[in-house]
Amino acid sequence: ADGDAAAGANKAKICKTCHQFGEGAKNAIGPVLNGVVGRKAGTYPGYDYSEANKNSGITWDEATLKVYLKNPKAKVPGTKMSFVGFQKDSDINNVVAFLKTLGPD
Ligand code: HEM
Repeated sequence: ADGDAAAGANKAKICKTCHQFGEGAKNAIGPVLNGVVGRKAGTYPGYDYSEANKNSGITWDEATLKVYLKNPKAKVPGTKMSFVGFQKDSDINNVVAFLKTLGPD
């Protein structure tokens, strides 16, 4: 089922430790997440990605994000994203629904 973007926005506060999104977002510990749905991994301008992320061959879409956010290091071995992942599928579905609302810059 589709997630709840409003609930996902609340959960995405966790991501803000490392990522910026919304108007005026800049790369920080992690890359800007605006426009991430539909983006080829490792391509946000000006961000210094790990080789693992850059070479993952992933295009971030609903399906790949759901697997990644469950366990980032399992989906992209060697990623420097140090986030353990969400346990609850409902949290993941909601966060992905929220990410889909973020337009490109
Ligand atoms: C990369 C999402 C939490 C640090 C990424 C990427 C996505 C993502 C989709 C890949 C972006 C791309 O290829 O352009 C999220 C979401 C989060 C979250 C939705 C919250 C649920 C965090 C947290 C941290 C973090 C808490 C820091 C502790 C990073 C870093 C990268 C990254 C450093 C670059 C990975 C690399 O180059 O290997 N994140 N992230 N993220 N994230 Fe997160």
